[in-house]
Amino acid sequence: MRLSVIGCGYLGAVHAASMAKLGHDVVGIDVDQAKVNELAAGRAPFFEPGLPELLAESQATGRLKFSTDLADAAGADVHFVCVGTPQRKGEYAADLRFVDAAVAGLAPYLKPGNIVVGKSTVPVGTAARLADQLAEDAPGAVLAWNPEFLREGHAVQDTLSPDRFVYGVPDGAAGTAAVAALDEVYAAPLSTGTPRLTVDYATAELVKTAANSFLATKISFINAMAEVCEASGADVSALADAIGMDDRIGRKFLNAGVGFGGGCLPKDIRAFMARAGELGADQALTFLREVDAINMRRRSKVVEMTREICGGSLMGKRVTILGAAFKPESDDVRDSPALSAAAQMQLQGATVTVTDPEALQNAKGRFPELTYEPVTENALLNAHAVVLLTEWKEYRNLDPAATAALVTDTNIIDGRNVLDPAAWRTAGWTYRSMGRP
Ligand code: UDX
Repeated sequence: MRLSVIGCGYLGAVHAASMAKLGHDVVGIDVDQAKVNELAAGRAPFFEPGLPELLAESQATGRLKFSTDLADAAGADVHFVCVGTPQRKGEYAADLRFVDAAVAGLAPYLKPGNIVVGKSTVPVGTAARLADQLAEDAPGAVLAWNPEFLREGHAVQDTLSPDRFVYGVPDGAAGTAAVAALDEVYAAPLSTGTPRLTVDYATAELVKTAANSFLATKISFINAMAEVCEASGADVSALADAIGMDDRIGRKFLNAGVGFGGGCLPKDIRAFMARAGELGADQALTFLREVDAINMRRRSKVVEMTREICGGSLMGKRVTILGAAFKPESDDVRDSPALSAAAQMQLQGATVTVTDPEALQNAKGRFPELTYEPVTENALLNAHAVVLLTEWKEYRNLDPAATAALVTDTNIIDGRNVLDPAAWRTAGWTYRSMGRP
């Protein structure tokens, strides 16, 4: 099939490359010329495992092209909208201007029978509004909403073999042209038994928001338990192992620590609250306010722990932060708990040095006031406290004795509960973690 993908960020670039891998002819469109140049040259403009290989392969097959001109989408049968829906400045609501612009910009190039597929995460009600707009601007084109559930760091695998496909189509009608087109796009993964659900627009939009809200709630639940563990001397990791053995609960997404960040969970729960308010259903989601509050408290908590381990004040202390990305296997620093805590420590008078294997360039752009050092050993030199906030493998595997030789004071805070307390204490460290004694 001939496909276009509008928006080539973390979602769109991976989607475009994955669709080419499935055998389709794909054009990716983005307003950012530098990004388009990189992608067109077969280089990934951000860190995502597996993406460089897919881009290289598509160079060889010639199935994937990139452009800044929406007119180049004209020949496609199915158009995927993969642009961002960030949080509006100073508000909880999502900023829909990129989605609106993508659909309005596509309209003149659409032919009757073309399918426009929204993949961006949007407030419930957006698809119905866009469908009305398309009916006026591009008669005969059909809108479908097909949310994306990919995790950064696993995006290629999640796109090529997802847990499920959700198709939101007008009235949830199964036998429509949009369903047939999506089935053809995803023929390969569907043939291996990937389930697919056909629902109405509103349900499709809500599946995504509800899934992310549930994941955020699960993390904040275990972080709330971490707070109780801290107050009572219990161990939150052992608690998570034990409750996670109940199949109804499950162990995944029960890792306590500095909490969730990134371009999705924080802004999605806020946009969901804002939308529920507009719909008069705000009471249904007041618990998400608590989920957000628990999450933000963990960032302050790690700052407080660092102050304590430094003897009660951060003034004049050198603090090394291990990790800048919001999670490992990503260079994304949007709403990164690590950088947020690092900035708070710097404000309290510490000299903060941040290291990360992939995210330093992005971090510098957002927090220019911090010091950045790519080599872990150099970043650790003469530190009064070391704080692990993103659990990259190289930090999980640090040798306590070798690390002790580099620092001034052997103080470590494990903000992701991934180090072995006994090994670090045996090597002479004062070790503290979040929710474990
Ligand atoms: C998330 C959803 O998982 C994905 O399905 C959706 O499409 C987009 O949002 P992503 O933001 O890539 O994906 O990251 P995810 O792996 O979900 O992690 C989110 C944050 O939660 C990270 O900061 C991570 O460190 C944190 N986290 C995750 C925890 O603190 N504890 C956990 O147990 C799991």
